Amino acid sequence: MSDWQRTHTCGELCENLVGTIVTLNGWVNTIRTYPDQIFIDLRDRYGITQVVAEIDNPQVFQIAQTISREFVLSVTGQVSKRLPGKENLKLSTGKVELKVNKIKILNSSPVPPFEVTEFGSELANEDLRLQYRFLDLRRKSLQDTLIKRHLINHTIRTFLSDEGFLELETPLLGKSTPEGARDYLVPSRTFHGEFYALPQSPQLYKQLLMVAGYDKYFQIARCLRDEDLRADRQPEFTQLDLEMSFIEIENIFQVIERLTQKIFQNCLGITIPLPLPKISYAEAMTKYGSDKPDLRFGLPIVALDEIVARSEFKVFKDILAKGGTVRGIKAPNAADKFSNTDLKPGGKLAEFVANYGAKGLAWLKVEESKFSGSIEKFFSPEVQGDLRKAFDAKAGDVLLMVADQEQVVCDALGALRSHLGNLLKCYTNWWEKETAPVAEDFSIAWVVDFPLFMWDAEEGRYVANHHPFTAPQDDDLTYLETDPKRVKAKAYDLVINGYEVGGGSIRIHSSEIQQKIFSILGMDEENARNRFGFLLDALKFGAPPHGGIALGLDRWAMMLAGTTNIRDVIAFPKNQKGRDLMTGAPAPVETRQLKDLGLK
Ligand code: AMO
Ligand code: AMP
Repeated sequence: MSDWQRTHTCGELCENLVGTIVTLNGWVNTIRTYPDQIFIDLRDRYGITQVVAEIDNPQVFQIAQTISREFVLSVTGQVSKRLPGKENLKLSTGKVELKVNKIKILNSSPVPPFEVTEFGSELANEDLRLQYRFLDLRRKSLQDTLIKRHLINHTIRTFLSDEGFLELETPLLGKSTPEGARDYLVPSRTFHGEFYALPQSPQLYKQLLMVAGYDKYFQIARCLRDEDLRADRQPEFTQLDLEMSFIEIENIFQVIERLTQKIFQNCLGITIPLPLPKISYAEAMTKYGSDKPDLRFGLPIVALDEIVARSEFKVFKDILAKGGTVRGIKAPNAADKFSNTDLKPGGKLAEFVANYGAKGLAWLKVEESKFSGSIEKFFSPEVQGDLRKAFDAKAGDVLLMVADQEQVVCDALGALRSHLGNLLKCYTNWWEKETAPVAEDFSIAWVVDFPLFMWDAEEGRYVANHHPFTAPQDDDLTYLETDPKRVKAKAYDLVINGYEVGGGSIRIHSSEIQQKIFSILGMDEENARNRFGFLLDALKFGAPPHGGIALGLDRWAMMLAGTTNIRDVIAFPKNQKGRDLMTGAPAPVETRQLKDLGLK
C-alpha cells in the first residue's frame, strides 16, 4: 500500500481509535480557517471526519492554507478526542478529530458552481445540478439513494436466485415490442432504410424464453420509451422483468409479495403484512377515480346520479340526459380553507379540474341545517338531506361535484382527490416525519380485473389496455367477438401510495387466440404476421401456459428513498425534456456518420 492510501474511511473513526495513526482520503466538504488552526471536514461516501491542521506543524499548515472546497486530499495523523463541548453529535465521527501531521493534495478543484453540502443550505437549481451531476452525486442524500438502489437489486437477485429463477439477458437491438409508447429507433448501417427498435420492455423475448423452457426467468432490464416525461417517468428506466411457466395469477402474486416483503425489510427494516389487498379496476375507478389509487387516505368519490336527478340544477340534469354521470367528493372541514373565489368558475379548484377535461366544478358548503353556495337554490330540502347522507356530511364540509361523461368525471375527481389529500394533509409522507418509517406509511395493493381493451376514440378502434399479449379471463372468452369492451383481462398492477410500481399479466399461449386479439385490435392477418410472425409461430410450437410481471424499479427506489422526483433516484437522468444536461445528449452527429447509415 502506498503511504498516501487510506487506512480508514471518513465514516469510521471513533473514540476506540483515539491515539491511532491513520490515513484518510476524501474531498474537502468545508474548510474553516483560524490564525492558528485550520479545520477541514473531509468527506467520502462513508461519512465526514473533522481534520485539524495546526500552526505548530508549519509545513502542514502552509499546505492547508492553499486548500479549498472539493480538493481531494490524503491526510495522515493521530485520532484525537475533541475538546469537551466541541463534539458534533450529528456526525458518527463527531466525538473525535484527526490531528494532521502529513497532508498531500491528490487533486485540486475550481470553486464548484454550487455547494455540495446539504446542511442548512437550499439546493441549487436542478438544471445546474444536472449539468454538474458528478458533483451533485457527492451529496449524501443522493449517495444514500443510490446505495438503496444497489440494495434493491441485490435483494432481488438473491431472493429470485434462491427461488430458482435464472437471470437471463435479452437484446437491446431488436424489433419493436409495443407497450403503448413510441419506439427509439436505431438505423442499420448494413441495411440502409431498416431500423432496430430499442426495447420498450423485454416482453416478447421473455415469452419466447418460456416457449424455450426456461420456466423461471428474471432480468433487471433497461427499457426505453419515447413518451412525454413526468415526475415519475424517464425515457430510459429499469424494470425487474419476470416471467414464469405453468402458473396461475396467484403464483405471481405470491412471489412478488414475498419479494416486496424482503425489499422493504432490507431497505427500510419494516415488515409489510401479507397477503397484499386486492381492489378491482372497477372499484378503483368508481371509488377513487384512478387505476392507481393512493389508499393511504379515504376521500372516496360518491355517486350522485339518482339524487341529483331530483334537483332543479340544469347542468346536472342535462348531463344525465346525455348519458353522463354526476359524482362528487367531500372536502372535510374545508369551508374555511376554500373561499368562494377559489371555488367559482376560473377559481383555483375549478381550474384544477379543468386540466382534466371537466367543464366546471359545482360546490356546496355544508351548514348546520342547510347548504350555501350559488347553486344551493336548485336543491330542495329533501334532496339536500339525501346529499348530506350520501356524503356523510357535517357542517364545515365542502361538497365538490363534477358532471360529465364517466371517463372525464373519473379523471377529474381522481386528480382532485389526490390534490385534496395533499392539500388537506390527509396523510404524511414518511420522509416528512420525524420518526422512522413504519409499515402503515405504505399502502400497497394489487389492482385486478382490468378490461382487456379500451376504446380509442381518436383512432376509432380498440387498443390493448396492457399489451396485446395479455390473456382474456376464461369466463369472458365468449364476448371476445360479440362485446370486446366487456372482456376482462388476466392482468394486474401493483400500486404503492398512488404510484403504479408494477404491472403484468397471464399471457395468451394459443396462436389462434393471439391472432383473434390482433384482429380485434385492427391488425389483419398479413399485418400481424409481418410484425409478430415469430411470436405466432412460437406459440404454435408448444408454448406452455405462462405469465409474468415487470416492476418499475425507479419508482420502487422513489418509494424507498422518499422522493416524488424520479430524477433523484437515477445516477444520470434526463431532464423533463429528455435531455442529458451533463453530456448534452441528444446531440448532432458528423455528416460522415449519417452517410454510413444512409441518412440525410
Ligand atoms: P408496463 O408498461 O406496465 O408493463 O411497465 C411496468 C412498470 O414499469 C414502470 N414504468 C416506468 N417507470 C419509469 N418511467 C417510465 N417511462 C415507465 N414506464 C413504465 C411502471 C410500470 O408499472 N412488459 C410489461 C410487463 C409485463 O406484462 O410483464 C410492461 O412493460 O412502474
Ligand atoms: P353556470 O351554469 O355556468 O352558472 O355554472 C354554475 C356552477 O356549476 C358553477 O360553479 C360551474 O362551475 C358549475 N358547473 C358547470 N358545468 C359543470 C359540470 N359539467 N360539472 C360540474 N359543475 C359544473
